[in-house]
Amino acid sequence: MPTKLSVNINKLATLRNSRGGNNPDVVKAAVDAQRFGADGITVHPRPDERHIRYSDVRALKKVITTEFNIEGNSREQSFVDLVLEVKPHQVTLVPDELGQITSDHGWDTIRHKSYLKEMISVFKQAGIRVSIFVDPDPKMVEGAALTGTDRVELYTESYARQYATGNRGSVIVKYVDAAKKAKEAGLGLNAGHDLDLHNLKYFKQNIPWLDEVSIGHALICDAIYLGFENAIQLYKRQLAE
Ligand code: PXP
Repeated sequence: MPTKLSVNINKLATLRNSRGGNNPDVVKAAVDAQRFGADGITVHPRPDERHIRYSDVRALKKVITTEFNIEGNSREQSFVDLVLEVKPHQVTLVPDELGQITSDHGWDTIRHKSYLKEMISVFKQAGIRVSIFVDPDPKMVEGAALTGTDRVELYTESYARQYATGNRGSVIVKYVDAAKKAKEAGLGLNAGHDLDLHNLKYFKQNIPWLDEVSIGHALICDAIYLGFENAIQLYKRQLAE
């Protein structure tokens, strides 16, 4: 089954914001990323707009011909309003705190079941597919299945860390277990965070039914050396069957 590569362009917005002005232009980057083979574009707007701005999200919507995925914290009403206005193909709900540098944990889907159910139905009624970010724990996936979500996104930071220290064989087991649980429950499966050119192939080989990965930091870093088009093509190659 083909796994889609959604390119997270937040880092390009961080670079742009560091100087003011519009270089790099994130809208152009999204258009180019799609031309270079990206199967989707991901953004993670935060209320402080320190990387992707709400106005970027509105402008991106007009040029995305693949799949638009907006990640973020649904406890921020401004985020919910933005997603409902822009109507991306997918919203990924992440339990962020204000000012958090990057996502660092998944939802406790048991504790927050009723909240998630309520939020998910709001987005689904608007015709938006919903994915929720979870740790690689079969219990959290089971809990997710009771919220009405369409997909889960497995948080891959611990996979990436263990892979780098040579423990890929042991760490992949819990990801495969969680991924199997998602399949049994009829949930689609996404993954993301710290995936890179080294660790992506092994992840896909072990979980071939993966629907989508969203990758930002490592891909943009690789693009500095390899160029944006080559980097996207190389990531796609890791996902090839
Ligand atoms: N998925 C989620 C929910 C995220 O918050 C992020 C980071 O914004 C990613 C995936 C992508 O992580 P990375 O930038 O490490 O590829």
